[in-house]
Amino acid sequence: MTKFASEPFRVLGLETSCDETGIAVYDSREGLLAHALHSQVAMHQAYGGVVPELASRDHIARALPLVQQTLRDADCSLAEVDAIAYTRGPGLAGALLVGAGLATALAMAADKPLLGVHHLEGHLLSPLMSDPTLDFPFVALLVSGGHTMLLDVADLGHYQLLGETVDDAAGEAFDKSAKLLGLGYPGGPALARLAAFGNPEAFDFPRPKLHSRDLDFSFAGLKTAVLTRVKHLGTNICEQSRADLAASTQEAITDVLCSKSVRALRQTGRATLVVAGGVGANSRLREKLDAVGQQIGVRVCYPDLQWCTDNGPMIAYAACRRLQAGLGRASHSYAFDIRPRWDLAELAGAAASDVA
Ligand code: KG4
Ligand code: ZN
Repeated sequence: MTKFASEPFRVLGLETSCDETGIAVYDSREGLLAHALHSQVAMHQAYGGVVPELASRDHIARALPLVQQTLRDADCSLAEVDAIAYTRGPGLAGALLVGAGLATALAMAADKPLLGVHHLEGHLLSPLMSDPTLDFPFVALLVSGGHTMLLDVADLGHYQLLGETVDDAAGEAFDKSAKLLGLGYPGGPALARLAAFGNPEAFDFPRPKLHSRDLDFSFAGLKTAVLTRVKHLGTNICEQSRADLAASTQEAITDVLCSKSVRALRQTGRATLVVAGGVGANSRLREKLDAVGQQIGVRVCYPDLQWCTDNGPMIAYAACRRLQAGLGRASHSYAFDIRPRWDLAELAGAAASDVA
């Protein structure tokens, strides 16, 4: 049976774009029914970063059992879901293929429509999952391990890129600086924890593009500045210096993110800022954005901490929103595909599954 726009939808969502296997059942009327997450962090830690081949193999081992567990927890059979959604991209090709392959097999077996979701749209919409009062339009600061963007979000599927990083992403800057300080992977949370004991003014790290008129970011120079400092301090660097380096690095990154967000809000005249993606979990960033939001009379919203990093619910939720709005045409063709590189702007007004 074909459902029409604004009818209730129940979606099984699979997220496998990188190092987390996330599965969820989201119902547009009842909300999140169940979800399961397996993080590969412990497996990749030994290598200091994500090993793509290991990531794919682990998704293969985990995804189906997690789907079965999530359906059981949701007290819902495969026959009772209206559509199956998977992360189509961007992400690691092998990892994406696992989710796309499994979602397609399940959809074929149960004769359900299939929908490929843009990973960043999942992040972007995740704050709306827990806050029913939050609505379009808004400015979004999307800060993940691979992306740093400011977007003007006029409506569902209408995303205008205002600015983005010209080199490293904010998450990458956290991760690379953390590595230089001898912290494990993923570096962002580890650096943030160490920063709590340091002086953010101890080192005057560069804040690239802070005063440029555009809304672009650049973080590659920061990593070089941290490297120079670490080398200068030598191998016997004391704990306090490491904490000071961490705090000063975090201060530089969050200063730029904060100031560019304010510029984007002024430029667009929007009254709401939505922060999404892994770096959105950073408490210093939240502290600064909250303060500046109060100052300029702008509402600042974040996803629940558990939905900042990759997860299944954001994919099931994004699919639900698209299906309800009549934007996502879930397909019965089962000619699944993936988009390891996929520009979010390409989604503008189009159905996620239709964009070739
Ligand atoms: O959105 P995400 O889970 O994955 C991608 O789609 O990339 O973001 C992961 C990124 C990593 O770079 C990680 O170090 C960073 O988010 N991150 C943080 C924090 N938690 C995660 N960075 C700074 N502070 C945190 N608390
Ligand atoms: Zn992500």
